[in-house]
Amino acid sequence: MKEEEIGLKIRIMSEKELPYDEVSLIEAAREAALRAYAPYSGYKVGAAVLLENGEIITGNNQENVAYPSGMCAERVAVFYANARYPFVPVRTLAIAAYSQNAFTGFISPCGACRQVLLEAEKRFGKPIRILLSGRDEVRVINCAGDLLPLAFETL
Ligand code: THU
Repeated sequence: MKEEEIGLKIRIMSEKELPYDEVSLIEAAREAALRAYAPYSGYKVGAAVLLENGEIITGNNQENVAYPSGMCAERVAVFYANARYPFVPVRTLAIAAYSQNAFTGFISPCGACRQVLLEAEKRFGKPIRILLSGRDEVRVINCAGDLLPLAFETL
Protein backbone atom coordinates (compact mmCIF):
# COMPACT_ATOMS: atom_id res chain seq x y z
CA MET A 1 0.00 0.00 0.00
CA LYS A 2 1.07 3.53 -0.65
CA GLU A 3 -0.25 6.65 0.97
CA GLU A 4 -0.54 10.12 -0.38
CA GLU A 5 -1.30 13.19 1.67
CA ILE A 6 -3.02 16.14 0.07
CA GLY A 7 -2.61 19.17 2.28
CA LEU A 8 -3.99 22.68 2.04
CA LYS A 9 -2.39 25.60 3.75
CA ILE A 10 -4.52 28.74 3.95
CA ARG A 11 -3.72 32.07 5.49
CA ILE A 12 -6.01 33.77 8.00
CA MET A 13 -5.56 37.50 7.80
CA SER A 14 -7.13 40.60 9.21
CA GLU A 15 -8.44 43.07 6.65
CA LYS A 16 -5.72 45.47 7.77
CA GLU A 17 -3.13 43.09 6.37
CA LEU A 18 -4.71 43.03 2.92
CA PRO A 19 -3.98 45.47 0.10
CA TYR A 20 -6.54 48.19 -0.49
CA ASP A 21 -7.91 46.68 -3.72
CA GLU A 22 -8.70 43.43 -1.90
CA VAL A 23 -10.47 45.20 0.94
CA SER A 24 -12.56 47.01 -1.70
CA LEU A 25 -13.31 43.67 -3.35
CA ILE A 26 -14.58 42.26 -0.06
CA GLU A 27 -16.72 45.34 0.40
CA ALA A 28 -18.14 44.81 -3.12
CA ALA A 29 -18.96 41.18 -2.21
CA ARG A 30 -20.75 42.33 0.94
CA GLU A 31 -22.78 44.91 -0.98
CA ALA A 32 -23.65 42.27 -3.58
CA ALA A 33 -24.84 39.91 -0.83
CA LEU A 34 -27.36 42.52 0.30
CA ARG A 35 -28.82 42.57 -3.23
CA ALA A 36 -29.24 38.76 -3.43
CA TYR A 37 -32.61 37.24 -4.26
CA ALA A 38 -32.93 34.58 -1.56
CA PRO A 39 -36.59 34.49 -0.43
CA TYR A 40 -36.52 30.72 0.20
CA SER A 41 -33.35 30.26 2.23
CA GLY A 42 -33.00 33.78 3.60
CA TYR A 43 -29.29 33.20 3.09
CA LYS A 44 -27.73 35.91 0.97
CA VAL A 45 -24.37 35.35 -0.67
CA GLY A 46 -22.29 37.92 -2.55
CA ALA A 47 -19.31 37.36 -4.80
CA ALA A 48 -17.00 39.94 -6.35
CA VAL A 49 -14.49 39.18 -9.04
CA LEU A 50 -11.47 41.33 -9.81
CA LEU A 51 -10.36 40.89 -13.40
CA GLU A 52 -6.86 41.38 -14.72
CA ASN A 53 -8.04 44.55 -16.50
CA GLY A 54 -9.02 46.07 -13.12
CA GLU A 55 -12.75 45.65 -13.65
CA ILE A 56 -14.87 44.39 -10.73
CA ILE A 57 -17.87 42.19 -11.52
CA THR A 58 -20.29 41.21 -8.77
CA GLY A 59 -22.90 38.50 -8.44
CA ASN A 60 -25.24 37.13 -5.80
CA ASN A 61 -27.42 34.07 -5.33
CA GLN A 62 -30.61 34.01 -7.35
CA GLU A 63 -33.15 31.56 -5.99
CA ASN A 64 -36.21 30.08 -7.63
CA VAL A 65 -39.42 28.45 -6.44
CA ALA A 66 -38.28 25.37 -8.39
CA TYR A 67 -35.22 25.06 -6.15
CA PRO A 68 -32.56 23.60 -8.46
CA SER A 69 -33.21 26.38 -10.96
CA GLY A 70 -31.49 28.89 -8.69
CA MET A 71 -27.83 29.80 -8.93
CA CYS A 72 -25.02 30.49 -6.45
CA ALA A 73 -23.39 33.89 -6.16
CA GLU A 74 -19.96 32.68 -7.24
CA ARG A 75 -21.20 31.19 -10.49
CA VAL A 76 -23.35 34.23 -11.29
CA ALA A 77 -20.25 36.43 -10.89
CA VAL A 78 -17.73 34.22 -12.70
CA PHE A 79 -20.05 33.31 -15.58
CA TYR A 80 -20.95 36.93 -16.10
CA ALA A 81 -17.30 38.02 -15.93
CA ASN A 82 -16.36 35.40 -18.53
CA ALA A 83 -19.37 36.32 -20.67
CA ARG A 84 -18.53 40.02 -20.56
CA TYR A 85 -14.74 39.66 -20.93
CA PRO A 86 -14.04 36.25 -22.49
CA PHE A 87 -10.31 36.93 -22.88
CA VAL A 88 -9.57 38.48 -19.49
CA PRO A 89 -8.43 36.26 -16.59
CA VAL A 90 -10.05 36.44 -13.18
CA ARG A 91 -7.41 37.49 -10.69
CA THR A 92 -9.25 37.46 -7.34
CA LEU A 93 -12.64 36.39 -6.01
CA ALA A 94 -14.13 37.59 -2.72
CA ILE A 95 -17.12 35.89 -1.10
CA ALA A 96 -19.36 37.15 1.73
CA ALA A 97 -22.66 35.99 3.20
CA TYR A 98 -25.47 37.68 5.10
CA SER A 99 -28.12 35.92 7.18
CA GLN A 100 -30.39 36.83 10.09
CA ASN A 101 -29.58 40.53 9.83
CA ALA A 102 -25.81 40.18 9.96
CA PHE A 103 -22.81 39.19 7.89
CA THR A 104 -21.88 35.61 8.69
CA GLY A 105 -18.59 33.91 9.43
CA PHE A 106 -16.64 32.87 6.39
CA ILE A 107 -18.30 30.56 3.87
CA SER A 108 -16.63 28.45 1.27
CA PRO A 109 -17.87 27.79 -2.28
CA CYS A 110 -20.04 24.70 -2.87
CA GLY A 111 -18.76 21.79 -4.94
CA ALA A 112 -20.34 22.92 -8.21
CA CYS A 113 -18.90 26.42 -7.78
CA ARG A 114 -15.44 24.95 -7.10
CA GLN A 115 -15.62 23.08 -10.38
CA VAL A 116 -16.54 26.27 -12.22
CA LEU A 117 -13.83 28.29 -10.47
CA LEU A 118 -11.27 25.67 -11.43
CA GLU A 119 -12.27 25.94 -15.07
CA ALA A 120 -12.09 29.75 -14.94
CA GLU A 121 -8.57 29.34 -13.55
CA LYS A 122 -7.41 26.65 -15.98
CA ARG A 123 -8.71 28.28 -19.13
CA PHE A 124 -6.25 31.16 -18.63
CA GLY A 125 -3.56 29.27 -16.74
CA LYS A 126 -3.55 31.95 -14.03
CA PRO A 127 -4.30 31.32 -10.35
CA ILE A 128 -7.47 32.82 -8.92
CA ARG A 129 -6.85 34.08 -5.41
CA ILE A 130 -9.90 33.49 -3.22
CA LEU A 131 -10.84 35.66 -0.23
CA LEU A 132 -13.40 34.17 2.15
CA SER A 133 -14.61 37.04 4.21
CA GLY A 134 -15.60 36.35 7.81
CA ARG A 135 -16.66 38.62 10.65
CA ASP A 136 -13.21 39.82 11.64
CA GLU A 137 -10.93 37.72 9.51
CA VAL A 138 -10.35 36.71 5.93
CA ARG A 139 -9.31 33.25 4.82
CA VAL A 140 -6.97 33.57 1.87
CA ILE A 141 -6.70 30.68 -0.57
CA ASN A 142 -3.98 30.77 -3.19
CA CYS A 143 -5.85 29.27 -6.10
CA ALA A 144 -9.09 27.54 -7.08
CA GLY A 145 -7.22 24.26 -7.57
CA ASP A 146 -6.51 24.20 -3.83
CA LEU A 147 -10.26 23.93 -3.19
CA LEU A 148 -10.69 20.95 -5.48
CA PRO A 149 -7.89 18.43 -5.12
CA LEU A 150 -8.03 15.42 -7.42
CA ALA A 151 -10.37 17.28 -9.75
CA PHE A 152 -11.70 15.55 -12.85
CA GLU A 153 -9.48 16.01 -15.87
CA THR A 154 -9.57 14.38 -19.27
CA LEU A 155 -6.22 12.79 -19.96
N1 THU B 1 -25.09 29.57 -2.07
C1 THU B 1 -24.26 30.37 -2.78
O1 THU B 1 -24.66 31.39 -3.34
N2 THU B 1 -22.94 30.02 -2.83
C2 THU B 1 -22.42 28.91 -2.27
O2 THU B 1 -21.23 28.65 -2.43
C3 THU B 1 -23.26 28.02 -1.48
C4 THU B 1 -24.68 28.38 -1.37
C5 THU B 1 -26.51 29.93 -2.01
C6 THU B 1 -27.45 28.93 -2.65
C7 THU B 1 -28.73 29.21 -1.94
O3 THU B 1 -29.41 30.26 -2.61
C8 THU B 1 -28.31 29.71 -0.57
O4 THU B 1 -26.93 30.00 -0.67
C9 THU B 1 -28.53 28.72 0.56
O5 THU B 1 -27.95 27.52 0.29
